[in-house]
Amino acid sequence: MTSVREAAYMVAAILFIIGVMRLRNPATARSGNLTAAAGMVIAVAFTLIGSSISNVVLLLAMVAAGAIIGAYSARAVKMTAMPQMVAVFNGMGGGAAALIALSEALQALAHGSYPGLPEAVPGLFDMLVGSISFTGSVIAFMKLQEWIPGRAKAFPGQNVVNAIFLILLIAVAVTVPIVPDAGTKLILDWILIVGSLVLGVSFVMPVGGADMPVIIALLNAFTGIAAAAAGFVLQNDVLIVAGALVGSSGTILTLIMSRAMNRSIFNVLFSAFGSKVTAKGASDRGEVHPTNAEEVGMLCAYAQRVVIVPGYGLAVARAQQECKDLMDALVARGVDVRFAIHPVAGRMPGHMNVLLAEANVPYDRLYDMDDINPEFQRTDVVLIIGANDVVNPDARLNPGSPIYGMPILNVDQAKTVIVNKRSMAAGFAGIDNPLFFMPNTMMYFGDAKGALQQLLQALKEAA
Ligand code: TAP
Repeated sequence: MTSVREAAYMVAAILFIIGVMRLRNPATARSGNLTAAAGMVIAVAFTLIGSSISNVVLLLAMVAAGAIIGAYSARAVKMTAMPQMVAVFNGMGGGAAALIALSEALQALAHGSYPGLPEAVPGLFDMLVGSISFTGSVIAFMKLQEWIPGRAKAFPGQNVVNAIFLILLIAVAVTVPIVPDAGTKLILDWILIVGSLVLGVSFVMPVGGADMPVIIALLNAFTGIAAAAAGFVLQNDVLIVAGALVGSSGTILTLIMSRAMNRSIFNVLFSAFGSKVTAKGASDRGEVHPTNAEEVGMLCAYAQRVVIVPGYGLAVARAQQECKDLMDALVARGVDVRFAIHPVAGRMPGHMNVLLAEANVPYDRLYDMDDINPEFQRTDVVLIIGANDVVNPDARLNPGSPIYGMPILNVDQAKTVIVNKRSMAAGFAGIDNPLFFMPNTMMYFGDAKGALQQLLQALKEAA
């Protein structure tokens, strides 16, 4: 049986790897997901077959409950809430790894012993990292869901306190295998878990909204590594492979995201970015120039080049089809229309690409930040639809700004900038945007869907 199970695990691991490879391309992503899911079914089935399970009914009830909740939430979740969903998955994985380690320790202690070093070390690692990942993900979820303010919240010296706290927790973990008494080991296990849960909160609270994508990817990596360690605790090869895959892909994504923001991972974690808001008094912001559909229609209709910058607001309004219709109407008039895609526009990696692909916007009209930035000086009209942080020129021009140094779309260099949003409210990072007050900027207020519909109508009338 063991060799059959090992062969099945090997097949599952190969399916995971093929699945991840296929996820890299939108055309093959769907089948990649199914391939990896098939691998997971094989892994779970062969883990259960031949295991000495004492309570099959409870186990099946839990699997059914998890499957129903998972299937429902995956179908119901809005595209804009996908990062929250990832945060929930991360948290579940980390919490499960910590619980597995605790239950293994409790089982051994019930027989008066403690797991030997090869299981104790990954188990203690799971209690630490899994618990941090659990509460860290809960805080990330609450920030993304806007149940708590997304802005960085840190008290002076919080990073030093966190670092000391982490060192103390590692010291507790190291002490567990050394102390001889089983009761003391259990108390230390609980101290480790509770302390790590607190550290998870304290570690994510100082991370500001704009850095959330990076922190989600990092927590993803933590959970993967904790799952791999749980594989060592349970001596389950396929869990080690799956955990390692999640851990490594989470780490790579973390590095890609922080590079996209031109920040080091250390800076993301420890700078409490966004905690100090550089809001200026209304008087020194300058004047806002509101506009309307007719004026925007005229400007776009007689432009040679229009660059459309989609952002989170476009996703909220689900106005991607109107955006495509606008592109078609302008292209029909001979206007060169391009879409500028910032790597962290929206609320998840690739958010704008997925949204525009839904409306069949051709890929060759989508330009990455590095490719479109040199083009703004030669652009007549930039039409920003529901974007804010990713076009904030303070990142380039104001050394005092918390986002100074972050790469942004240099839209302010275009001849005319039109910003569509509903109000003067801040974006996700909660900071002011001087773009809205620049002399070449006009504010086209309104919900993106309605505003684009009116614009299309105005374009027709301008024909
Ligand atoms: P944001 O800076 O979040 O700004 C979006 C703007 O859309 C808001 O200022 C809002 O202004 C407007 N808006 C909301 N609903 C609208 C609607 N129905 N119609 C028109 N406008 C609407 O968006 P962004 O520029 O895309 O930047 C993304 C931000 O999210 C960055 O700070 C990024 O770091 C962060 N983030 C990104 C990710 C990933 S991986 N992409 C994940 C988590 C967080 P009004 O309220 O005035 O309308």
